[in-house]
Amino acid sequence: MLAKFGAPSRTPRGLGFQLRSCKGSVISHRDYSKKIGTSTTEGTSAQQPTQPHSSSPKNNILDMATNPRDFWKGKFFDLSPRQQQALVELVSAQNKLFEPYATNEELQVPILQLKAAAEHAVADVNAPIRVCVSGAAGAIGYALLFRIASGSLFGPHTPVILHLLEIPASVPKVKGVEMELRDAAFPVLRDIVITDSPEKAFEGIDYALLVGAQPRTAGMERGDLLLKNAEIFSTQGKALNKVAKGKDTRVIVVGNPANTNALIAQRNAPKIPPQNFSAMTRLDHNRGIAQLSQKTKTSVTDIEKFVIWGNHSATQVPDISYATIKGEPARIVINDDPWVEKTFIPCVQKRGAEILAARGASSTASAASALVDATIDWHFGTYGKWTSAAVFSNGEYGVEKGLFFSYPVTFSQKKYNIIGDLPISDEVRKKIEITHKELIQERDAVSKLLPN
Ligand code: NAD
Ligand code: LMR
Repeated sequence: MLAKFGAPSRTPRGLGFQLRSCKGSVISHRDYSKKIGTSTTEGTSAQQPTQPHSSSPKNNILDMATNPRDFWKGKFFDLSPRQQQALVELVSAQNKLFEPYATNEELQVPILQLKAAAEHAVADVNAPIRVCVSGAAGAIGYALLFRIASGSLFGPHTPVILHLLEIPASVPKVKGVEMELRDAAFPVLRDIVITDSPEKAFEGIDYALLVGAQPRTAGMERGDLLLKNAEIFSTQGKALNKVAKGKDTRVIVVGNPANTNALIAQRNAPKIPPQNFSAMTRLDHNRGIAQLSQKTKTSVTDIEKFVIWGNHSATQVPDISYATIKGEPARIVINDDPWVEKTFIPCVQKRGAEILAARGASSTASAASALVDATIDWHFGTYGKWTSAAVFSNGEYGVEKGLFFSYPVTFSQKKYNIIGDLPISDEVRKKIEITHKELIQERDAVSKLLPN
């Protein structure tokens, strides 16, 4: 990893030096002095480094080496367990190694160099992830991009390259968003690609977050968007097929009607396994657990095994049959069946319309947040916890093969697993049949865009 840093440029004054990080920024001696708590001469710039007048180099260096949290400037808690372990081992090994030489001023530079290389080795081990966001100039795009670029999605030690796809008329607007993203100086934001060409946008991407589409306006159902938005997903499916990384690309469709748009994109991208596509019902899932937590005065993290079945539409089936709250059956904890049937279920089903009526615009930040959650599920897995996602049906629970249907799923190693063999009550079964029929109708309405 040392090779990633340029050699220190020594000044005639001896120990003054600069290091160049792999990102190209100059790391001045002054920065290092700040890290180890020594003072530098007032007014010293990175271009004119001077020797620190550390009265006790031994203490400073060893303090840094014995306290990984300070070494990491408070970011220690951000590391994965594997990285924490690596850092602790590294610091204690360095400590042992450097102790006999800590008073030798000539060794200050190489010791700091080694520490910088070590920091880099532990902090920046992951390859950059390329994420394409379509509709990047739109409302969800605006809320989403800053979450991704800040590291909230892949963590603070995984660089991201954003591919921003828009229609030609909105490219200037995306350029404004790009300026803001760059101005935020996010450490993990490696680069930004802006384009109105799906083929350029999808080249080499790991994730396609397909948000770009018209939203509904007051009085519309999501299905009313079907013919307006379908063509977008046919074009994008073809482009994904041509230039994305095949089995290594994951696609999450958000643009409505999301299930059928996912179906269109998937059918137009035969080189990508159908199991790499999903349509987002994570927002409905989050809405459900948020309502349950409010009702029972528990934390959202206490609620498990809640399910959204079917379409991301008003026919979706929010189901608490298997849900637990702090490990107890949810129905018993709630102890209010009329609330479940008359308040809870309709609230989750119609939440999008309620927000649209209240804001005059469809949900934005909560949708972006759910998309971050849904992508985290794909990327990191759910560690056995159930979530909901609309995924390719292989006939599970009697659903027609090929439809994108929301099921209870877990994710692991970038794959989902549909929870099978759940007992389904007659009442829930009837509701599932209604949402299933709606998806069949949507599919049939766009049959022209579905190659065999
Ligand atoms: P918006 O109108 O603010 O933004 C949509 C953006 O998509 C616009 O900038 C537009 O120029 C762009 N766009 C249109 N066609 C495009 C194309 N062919 N390629 C690339 N970009 C294109 O809308 P929004 O509020 O960001 O919502 C976007 C979509 O997400 C809507 O369809 C909305 O209904 C849907 N949505 C889904 C969920 C969900 O849970 N699945 C939640 C909220 C919103
Ligand atoms: C939502 O669920 O909020 C979105 O699908 C937007 C909408 O139209 O309801």
